[in-house]
Amino acid sequence: MLQVRNLSKDYDALSALDNLSFQVDDGQFLCILGPTGCGKTTLLRMIAGLITPSAGEIILDGQKVRSPGPDRGFVFQEYALFPWRTVQQNVEFGLEVRGLAPAERQRTARAYIALVGLTGFEHYLPKQLSGGMKQRIAVARVLANDPRIVLMDEPFAALDCQTRNVMQEELLKVWDAQQRKTILFVTHNVEEAVFLADSILVLSHRPGRLVESIPVDLPRPRDRLSPELHRLRGRILDLLAGQVSKTELLGETCTTI
Ligand SMILES: Nc1ncnc2c1ncn2[C@@H]1O[C@H](COP(=O)(O)OP(=O)(O)OP(=O)(O)O)[C@@H](O)[C@H]1O
Ligand SMILES: [Mg+2]
Repeated sequence: MLQVRNLSKDYDALSALDNLSFQVDDGQFLCILGPTGCGKTTLLRMIAGLITPSAGEIILDGQKVRSPGPDRGFVFQEYALFPWRTVQQNVEFGLEVRGLAPAERQRTARAYIALVGLTGFEHYLPKQLSGGMKQRIAVARVLANDPRIVLMDEPFAALDCQTRNVMQEELLKVWDAQQRKTILFVTHNVEEAVFLADSILVLSHRPGRLVESIPVDLPRPRDRLSPELHRLRGRILDLLAGQVSKTELLGETCTTI
């Protein structure tokens, strides 16, 4: 469904991403894991069509990506809600842009607000919500547009580890309820990647290059404490040994909810 071919990006003299190739199947949950500054956000922004590659190409459903489009939804690293709009108005935003009638917009937005568990908060402003609630609304806003692919850039990085664990589980529930949309989820947390992904692309230190593509054939729902997840985490950390400090990639360990 999505093919990334020999993709590179230079910012003047700085090489951010170097000759990256991979593909994503329809309905796959792909995690992209790599140290800070290795070009993960740059990669997502190129797939979103927000910036142009220096070399290589991105093909989505057989078409070369040249500009942004409603087929790609983006959940940003920082919360990107409109502060002056209520929860309901934030989720309706893309539907308004697409010209849906008000009644249809309201119905759709309410359904997605319910999907992320925030019924009752429709009239709140973002400043009245917690970090986790804001990120849920950001997810609802993207899903309400029914994109072909959801690009998520460390959406839970700003959350404390317990909220992060809850959000990971809720995202998987929403993903199931949504007939498993294709997701590209960027993180620099190994635990998050092994818990969420069907497949993990491990990137090197800057400039980001593919270290290895690792399929995660573990049944869902996954147990964070299982020996299989633990082994996989160890294998990925070994792969990255020498690239970055283990502390950065492990983040906070949080096993209770
Ligand atoms: N607009 C820009 N102009 C110049 N350099 C940039 C620009 N955007 C990113 N860079 C540089 O490119 C490199 C990759 O940045 P990018 O934001 O893609 O990394 P990242 O993997 O998302 O990091 P993090 O995990 O910290 O979010 C960094 O060295 C950064 O300084
Ligand atoms: Mg980033």
